[in-house]
Amino acid sequence: MNPDPDQQPIALITGASGGIGEAFAYELAADGYRLVLVARTVNELARVADDLASQSSTKPECIGMDLSQPGSAAALSALIAERGLMPEVLVNNAGFGLMGKTLALDVDEQVGMINLNITALTELSVLFGRHMAARGKGGIINVTSVAGSLPGPNMSIYYASKAYILRFTEALSAELKGSGVQVTAVAPGVTRTGFHKRAGMERSVLMKYSIPMSSEAVARIGYQGFLRKRRVVTTGVFNKFAMLCSLLVPNAVLLPVTGWLHTKVAGAPELSQQPLTAKRHSDE
Ligand SMILES: NC(=O)c1ccc[n+]([C@@H]2O[C@H](COP(=O)([O-])OP(=O)(O)OC[C@H]3O[C@@H](n4cnc5c(N)ncnc54)[C@H](OP(=O)(O)O)[C@@H]3O)[C@@H](O)[C@H]2O)c1
Repeated sequence: MNPDPDQQPIALITGASGGIGEAFAYELAADGYRLVLVARTVNELARVADDLASQSSTKPECIGMDLSQPGSAAALSALIAERGLMPEVLVNNAGFGLMGKTLALDVDEQVGMINLNITALTELSVLFGRHMAARGKGGIINVTSVAGSLPGPNMSIYYASKAYILRFTEALSAELKGSGVQVTAVAPGVTRTGFHKRAGMERSVLMKYSIPMSSEAVARIGYQGFLRKRRVVTTGVFNKFAMLCSLLVPNAVLLPVTGWLHTKVAGAPELSQQPLTAKRHSDE
């Protein structure tokens, strides 16, 4: 690892205040990168930065920003340029999901999900990808999901947003072939993080029957795949099987099964009983 921070390559990670993003921060710090961490919760970012600083020679920069707000990706890019923190590696990890019927969930929250999962990820890929391509080196890791290859009733927009990320990343990777810029989509399955609480799916059928991976394992497998120049990295054997099912099993079967996985287990309030404007964070 290079001890001079000015000589270290920079990695920018969105959604680094916990979960998979925090685990990516450890992977990249261990590989010698100076880090820029972005999320909304500044005190959680500071906790991650302090923990990382105690293990390495440099302290990560922390930027508190809500990337679901229109114009936030451009604002982040301008801030990065102003501070001279242009990343060699970008990890577009920030994202969230919402479980419930599309017409019943709060429409503003669902648009915010599209802004974060799709728009901010796309803008950051383009804005920072241009700098990487001009320098002839760098890399982008976009965190999608096994959900990206399946239809997802009761989580329709989340699943569709992850399908967008998968296809966008594959295509960008093909466009940048030979440019020196590596583009990789990482597709985790169920992973032990704060994701399910925010999505309102802690008591879902999916959570009842799945065995979550650790965020550390997801980041390690994802980063190793990126280093091996893989276009898509699916974490874990079960998740690879789920991806295969998406190709082999007809939609007439997939739709009811995935829809059922996103219902609440017996005893939990029915999704259909939730008010049309229900906010999902009311129980947090
Ligand atoms: N956990 C799973 O089972 C799973 C499976 C497949 C894919 N994924 C994907 O993995 C990625 C990371 O999720 P996770 O599982 O690690 O969940 P998590 O623990 O909830 O972490 C999400 C991260 O995104 C940040 N974030 C959320 N909203 C944001 C916003 N508006 N602006 C900026 N940052 C925001 C959060 O920080 P703040 O709240 O502080 O902003 C946090 O750092 C997501 O893209 C998710 O779709 C997760």
